[in-house]
Amino acid sequence: MCPPDNFGVVYEINPWMHTEVGPDPDLARAQFDNLVATLTASGAEVEMLPSETGLPDMVFTANAGVVSGGTFVPARFRHPQRQGETPLDTAWFRSNGYDVRELPAGGCQEGAGDALPIFSPGIRPVLVCGYRFRSDISTHGAISSLLGVPTRSVELADDRFYHLDLCFCPLNGRRAMVASAGFDRYGMAVIESLVPEPLILDTEEALSFCANSVVVGDVVVMPACPPRVGRILESWGFSVVVVDVGEFLKAGGGCRCLTLALDVDLSDTCDSQAT
Ligand code: ARG
Repeated sequence: MCPPDNFGVVYEINPWMHTEVGPDPDLARAQFDNLVATLTASGAEVEMLPSETGLPDMVFTANAGVVSGGTFVPARFRHPQRQGETPLDTAWFRSNGYDVRELPAGGCQEGAGDALPIFSPGIRPVLVCGYRFRSDISTHGAISSLLGVPTRSVELADDRFYHLDLCFCPLNGRRAMVASAGFDRYGMAVIESLVPEPLILDTEEALSFCANSVVVGDVVVMPACPPRVGRILESWGFSVVVVDVGEFLKAGGGCRCLTLALDVDLSDTCDSQAT
């Protein structure tokens, strides 16, 4: 995670951002600290990447790149406003001992925000990769070969869900939250072939950003939780914790966007689940 010292809405690169509706810095800090405390209490360990002046979206570390084991593939951001984050992200991963492997020049790819793994016991992990608004499908082959993981490409259909992690949230090997508005029919068919028990979110539910949740074991840390969604998650054995990240929603990001999972190994057939 990256603290919100330099967070703000000073440009508009997604439909949620309006420069005239800026975040309150103290409230943003309190919400961020509460998210860190909630994740820690749920069993996560949190590492901090220092923030940098002039990079107001650096707080959304989900977009820094894709992690697998000791390997890090840095993002290639679509918008110049975020491209300055990449050298800082890369330096952090290098200094923490990661093997940094660059995508070939050409396409854009915005990290784990557009690449979410599904881990099913006894089966090779699959990386579901979204494309269109921020990431290009042309990068998916390189991600697959750099990280040694099969990828499945899904086109994003609605610019309000401009990253995959706004409309798709894997919960475990069988289950995921899926906003049908975020995908076309082919994308939904791909997801349904990978997720035997999807929790299909209607558009109103999905617009609450409930799919932008962090799964820590059995705990689902959510920016909002519509009642029906909470009932289903609890009937499946998850506990739901809602953390108000309203100041970050003004930039189009929620709980999941504010984190990048490091405990992911895509090369392994494993029995445990990573988030
Ligand atoms: N303002 C940021 C942007 O538009 C928000 C990023 C949200 N991140 C995410 N993983 N969905 O790039």
